[in-house]
Amino acid sequence: MIKIGSQKIDTNIFLSPLAGCADLAFRLIAREYGAKFCFFEMADANALTHGPGKNKEILMIHPDDTPIAAQLLGGDPQIMLEAAQILLGQIKPAFLDINAACPAKKVLKKRAGAYLVDEPDLLAAIIGKLTSSLPLPITVKLRSGFKQNDHGHIISVARKCEESGAAAIFIHGRTQRQLYAGEVDYEAIRLVKENVSIPIFGSGNILSVQLAKKMFDETGCDGILVARGAIGHPWIFREIEEYLKTGKIPEPIDLPRRIKVLERHLSYIEKIRQSRPSNKIGLMRRIALEYLKGLPNSTAIRRLIAPAKSYEQLVARCLSL
Ligand SMILES: Cc1cc2nc3c(=O)[nH]c(=O)nc-3n(C[C@H](O)[C@H](O)[C@H](O)COP(=O)(O)O)c2cc1C
Repeated sequence: MIKIGSQKIDTNIFLSPLAGCADLAFRLIAREYGAKFCFFEMADANALTHGPGKNKEILMIHPDDTPIAAQLLGGDPQIMLEAAQILLGQIKPAFLDINAACPAKKVLKKRAGAYLVDEPDLLAAIIGKLTSSLPLPITVKLRSGFKQNDHGHIISVARKCEESGAAAIFIHGRTQRQLYAGEVDYEAIRLVKENVSIPIFGSGNILSVQLAKKMFDETGCDGILVARGAIGHPWIFREIEEYLKTGKIPEPIDLPRRIKVLERHLSYIEKIRQSRPSNKIGLMRRIALEYLKGLPNSTAIRRLIAPAKSYEQLVARCLSL
């Protein structure tokens, strides 16, 4: 159990926000295999204040998809507040997270995402605005640095977040410049944990049960975010829980079982996604390849999946494996 502001949450292993990936279909499958707390995909504050648009699909709710948190991307305190109010008129998340982690150039240009790690006063103003105006806990997702790791800087950013009212900090232990590759700076996460008293969640390379344990052991963090480790591998949540309890390394999931879960995941996308069929099949093919990653005949599998033009064709091709 972990407390984030006023919210008691039953687990400290969360599904991380994954834009373009962790949609409702993804989350329902993750929950069936052990995820007890998830994030919606991030919503863009500017877009939200201009009408539902893409955020309509992002903020789809389902009775089985709870408890859940939302995340907002933006760099203007007033627009962030207006967007948050619109969002809270549609959904009831346990808390609302501010994205100060996205490394994409187009996001940095809008003075949002990881840009805020380098502009702690602006980040503090956003947190202050939201915490003083909204009835739910506000959290922040940080990178460990902007261009380079600077432990003194990230500690002072984290302290500022806490002073401004943040109820928890999620920290991806890579700089903006590292994007998603390279070493995770566990030391930065450990130092942040030591220097604030709100809950700290570690993120970065939680790709196996051993790496999940490493994040806890090396940083003393209160919880972890599972991100790429859950893509094509939704059972990782159950595996991590079991491993942390017993130390037992999980058995690899055999191909028939993987195909069964994949088929179910594809059926959820088919039922839930409202986007154009051409977009839907693209997403389905990407998801299928993630489930089938690491098999010895990967080139043949790619050749089998790529020409599938419809849900039915793709399922038939996967079942033929
Ligand atoms: C496809 C993809 C989309 C992501 N979208 C978001 C996002 O919207 N918000 C966010 O805070 N982090 C996002 N992230 C970052 C992850 O949540 C996580 O912090 C990062 O991938 C590090 O964890 P990992 O190395 O275990 O994947 C995304 C990562 C990926 C790979």
